[in-house]
Amino acid sequence: RNLLVLNGPNLNLLGTREPAVYGTGTLDDVEAAALAAAQAHGWTVDCIQSNHEGDLIDAIHGAPGLADAIIINPAAYSHTSVALRDAFSGVGLPVVEVHLSNIHKREEFRHHSYISAVAEVVICGAGIAGYRMAVDFLAESLDAKAG
Ligand code: DQA
Repeated sequence: RNLLVLNGPNLNLLGTREPAVYGTGTLDDVEAAALAAAQAHGWTVDCIQSNHEGDLIDAIHGAPGLADAIIINPAAYSHTSVALRDAFSGVGLPVVEVHLSNIHKREEFRHHSYISAVAEVVICGAGIAGYRMAVDFLAESLDAKAG
């Protein structure tokens, strides 16, 4: 069983990008946390970061058959992208949406995410630990379903 972990635009800058908001952990730290959590359940992960909306959409389209579920931090596309949301509706895999920061504590334009309505679970404000929580939720719920 495998999870696809997608990180959207500007998350390659984690570590140096607005550390007061996002912390000092890097994208490598994020991906390592997801991998460690998955391995604890006997799962694997594929991690992709892209600054390009279409590349993220292509990765979602390619997920069925390769992944059992998707974890995504859509970053700024959360607040703008109907196309990303439609991609999730199109493939129908379980999705968990993660944000490092608590988007509800921040500017008004970050309060709405187009992705949340197609996500099983939304985690925000837990920092890198949010990715571990997302992995734990998906592995536990999908393993329970499989019996
Ligand atoms: C973010 C929150 C978004 O509003 C922002 O555009 C990001 C990162 C987060 O992880 O807190 O790039 O998704």
